[in-house]
Amino acid sequence: MDIGIDLGTANVMISVGNKGIVLNEPSVVAFNKKLNEVIAVGEEAYKMVGRTPDYITVVRPLSDGVISDHKMTERMITAFIEKVTGKQLFMPNIVMCIPSSITDVESRAVVEAAKIAGARQVYLIEEPVAAIMGAGVDISKPEGNMVVDIGGGTTDIAVISMNGVVTKSSVKVAGNKLDKAIVKYVTNRYRILIGEKTAENAKIAAANVYSPDGSRKIIVKGRHLVRGLPEQIELTDYDIYEAIIDNVREMIDAVKSVFEKTPPELVGDIYRNGIYLTGGGAMLYGLDRLMSSQVGVTCNIANDPISCVAKGTRYAFKNIDKLLDGFEHVSMYK
Ligand SMILES: Nc1ncnc2c1ncn2[C@@H]1O[C@H](COP(=O)(O)OP(=O)(O)OP(=O)(O)O)[C@@H](O)[C@H]1O
Ligand SMILES: [Mg+2]
Repeated sequence: MDIGIDLGTANVMISVGNKGIVLNEPSVVAFNKKLNEVIAVGEEAYKMVGRTPDYITVVRPLSDGVISDHKMTERMITAFIEKVTGKQLFMPNIVMCIPSSITDVESRAVVEAAKIAGARQVYLIEEPVAAIMGAGVDISKPEGNMVVDIGGGTTDIAVISMNGVVTKSSVKVAGNKLDKAIVKYVTNRYRILIGEKTAENAKIAAANVYSPDGSRKIIVKGRHLVRGLPEQIELTDYDIYEAIIDNVREMIDAVKSVFEKTPPELVGDIYRNGIYLTGGGAMLYGLDRLMSSQVGVTCNIANDPISCVAKGTRYAFKNIDKLLDGFEHVSMYK
């Protein structure tokens, strides 16, 4: 049994052999400080965000693409792997994709955690490489393809040809930052404090970063900062646009900067093939059209963009010996 893990800052997805994706849960851990034990991970813990008494903490141990909490990260990985494998005795091989921004020391901790959970061998794969394979692109040919993976913590951009990364860039502007920007905007504009989960829902339901016209809207609830009482307001796509457009422009600028570093033959290929958008952020309403118009290259949202990386980790097993570039730490952890 081979297991592919997309250890994302927002979501963890696990795919197994020929079964496909078997687990898809938020990267959240709930911890009881009094008893010093994990009480829930994933979906169950996510429901507790912002709703716990003092003695329980709910953390996103990988938030913003860094490991903010080693112990919790380890426990989360272990819990997820056990959830998938049960307490069986066989030792799976694991291909794991970790946030591109985490350091070597941190990635070692992640690999150790996977080993503790029973892995025989752990391979790490770079997120854009997994993402583009999961999008169904054949990357073995001498032909340039560009992928833009927009997750919770980071936007990863890479140009890939002949199984290798030619140019790449990673910026810490992605889904979470957009949610925070919405919270800030609603605070400043309407004097209402909303939670980040509420902001995320508003982004999904009412964003239009290409042509806001007031037609997408959502009612959100929060606390009025002056009166201190509950209040609800309607947010439209104009609101969301104003809140997040600067961050979205940063993502697009990062894409432009990768083009500047890319050899011209490959730029020509990308012009022909289009850019592949993957990750949950690829679904940001209007982003594909905005990026196409700003960069001058067609942007295609991959099929089921949020699971591309998890699918890619599974495909990677077939290419472990060929994908040298994507598997940075292979030899280190054998
Ligand atoms: N329809 C949508 N519109 C806009 N954003 C969305 C939509 N659906 C999901 N998202 C966002 O996608 C993000 C999660 O995407 P994904 O699961 O690819 O991230 P991740 O892989 O966990 O993060 P990372 O790759 O940075 O470690 C969240 O910020 C979520 O709000
Ligand atoms: Mg991701």
